[in-house]
Amino acid sequence: MKIVNVVGARPNFMKIAPLLREYRRFPDEFEPVLVHTGQHYDANMSDLFFRQLEIPPPDVFLGVGSGSHAEQTAKVMVEMEKLLVAKPADLVVVVGDVNSTMAATIVAAKLCIPVAHVEAGLRSGDRTMPEEVNRIVTDALSDYLFTTSPDADENLRREGIPAGKIHFVGNVMIDTLLRLKEIAGRSEGRYGVVTLHRPSNVDEKAVLTEILSALDVIQKDLPLVFPVHPRTAGRLKQFGLWEEMSRWPNLKLMEPVGYLDSLRLLAGATVVLTDSGGMQEETTALGVPCLTIRENTERPVTVTEGTNTLVGTSHARIVGEARKILTGGGKRGRVPKYWDGQAAQRIVQCLRKK
Ligand code: UD1
Repeated sequence: MKIVNVVGARPNFMKIAPLLREYRRFPDEFEPVLVHTGQHYDANMSDLFFRQLEIPPPDVFLGVGSGSHAEQTAKVMVEMEKLLVAKPADLVVVVGDVNSTMAATIVAAKLCIPVAHVEAGLRSGDRTMPEEVNRIVTDALSDYLFTTSPDADENLRREGIPAGKIHFVGNVMIDTLLRLKEIAGRSEGRYGVVTLHRPSNVDEKAVLTEILSALDVIQKDLPLVFPVHPRTAGRLKQFGLWEEMSRWPNLKLMEPVGYLDSLRLLAGATVVLTDSGGMQEETTALGVPCLTIRENTERPVTVTEGTNTLVGTSHARIVGEARKILTGGGKRGRVPKYWDGQAAQRIVQCLRKK
């Protein structure tokens, strides 16, 4: 089976790595091809992850880069179509919910190539979020829907996806976390980790300023480290906020960090304040309290079972919930079913039965 695996943006790399390792155990059955769309291209958003996660260099690099949603999606589609017409595949595997995921799916579906979506069925219910649109389109067109939690299965059934296409296999991102946890270790001392990159949080000055005002209060009690996503760095500079923040005594702004440093920081943190989807899951797997700076989440299992609390974007809530953790300790939670390091194995076993 010739499988074209598509990655484009930072959170895709942790998800594809365990699948690529698993196909290699069956060399007579699978011929994997790795396509990198180039949605993320900075060394510390891409190459560093390939090295640390031991992902082989991509077989094909599409070099699409940044752009508006339509531009980025269209560029991936044009290049993917050329590739899949020239070199037909038996299956296209896409992961997550980024523009590259949706673009590759549309192209494969129109060429009548089956699509497997890894991390299917997540829904925030918020269509102003670009990822939500990507998830809905990708799932509607996929033939194999591999899910990380039973709520995702339910979402898919509600949207009319036949039960036979839905496979609850667990979380490939946690496969990677469990494999590299010992190597990454954990940072010492008392500190919190901050990450922000959602357009709804960073693209509007008023919203971003409100979130930062809460961080300013928290850093007086707890040193904070903040690896800054390029989108956010751009906005902080554009809004004239970067200079001021870099003078806060207890907040360390830094360049985006690689996977191992990220894991090391998360594992030792007192609290993580984030709007990342992946970090909500990683903190739950590590048993570290997470405050999610959003009004909703497509990953409710991290709240109902894990260590996650939704705090929205208001100063009062963020500070209030952080104080609770600093005075009483945060949620401990439990690790959801099948977040056990064997999700990629389950996926590959399912594909072998095809
Ligand atoms: C994308 C995903 C988001 C994911 C995030 C993780 C979509 C719609 N969004 O958001 O789901 O959580 O990746 O990082 O696919 N930039 C650089 N260097 C890079 C990449 C981006 O400087 O290597 C800057 C560019 O100014 C670019 C901006 O960041 O315009 C946004 O990049 P883009 O890929 O469009 O979206 P993200 O915000 O990274």
